[in-house]
Amino acid sequence: MVRAAVLVSGSGTNLQKLLDAQAQGALAPAEIALVVSNRKAAFALERAKAAGVESAVLSKAMEPDPALWDEKLLALLQAHRIDLVVLAGFLMVLGERTLAAFTSRIVNIHPALIPSFAGPGFYGLRVHEAALARGVKITGATAHLVNGEVDGGPILIQKAVEVLPGDTPESLQRRVMEQAEWIILPKSVQLLAERIEAEERA
Ligand code: GAR
Repeated sequence: MVRAAVLVSGSGTNLQKLLDAQAQGALAPAEIALVVSNRKAAFALERAKAAGVESAVLSKAMEPDPALWDEKLLALLQAHRIDLVVLAGFLMVLGERTLAAFTSRIVNIHPALIPSFAGPGFYGLRVHEAALARGVKITGATAHLVNGEVDGGPILIQKAVEVLPGDTPESLQRRVMEQAEWIILPKSVQLLAERIEAEERA
């Protein structure tokens, strides 16, 4: 099995879809071994608990120095023998040690079709506000590998979603989640886990 850690900051609907996929046997060879939140009030932590998955909080308040925060995260991942990291609505940028230790082993879900509405400052509802302001008729989501550049790593899967007349940032966010994120994130985690397993067998 490929041990996955899911990093979260908020409500954790993407985490829930990963847990559901796991319960249905659709995530293997990945298994969710750990959930890490940078916010102690994140509802995602309740979802981990309900699924019986171990969780940890590592907030900026607990470790304000970014380099030390990065070291602590890496130590936590290593202590849990993590092979693969999933950023599922995780709204912090990872530090260089963690990035180096998990090269090509970190997947992020972004709520737009990269390279549109991506990069520093484009997260959460802001992405959908920008898409509506630009008047695009198609948006979507992207699952991609994480490198040092925000939203810059190789793309794994993308899925397009229609923007409808009268959409608000909230209605568009919900449609992008339902029709794209919740489908392509579990699929990309499974694909990456298969890739890692093959690498380790070679
Ligand atoms: C999701 O829409 C995810 O794509 C987005 O945050 C939301 C988290 O929702 N991530 C980013 O914007 C990262 N740049 P969730 O906590 O319910 O999964």
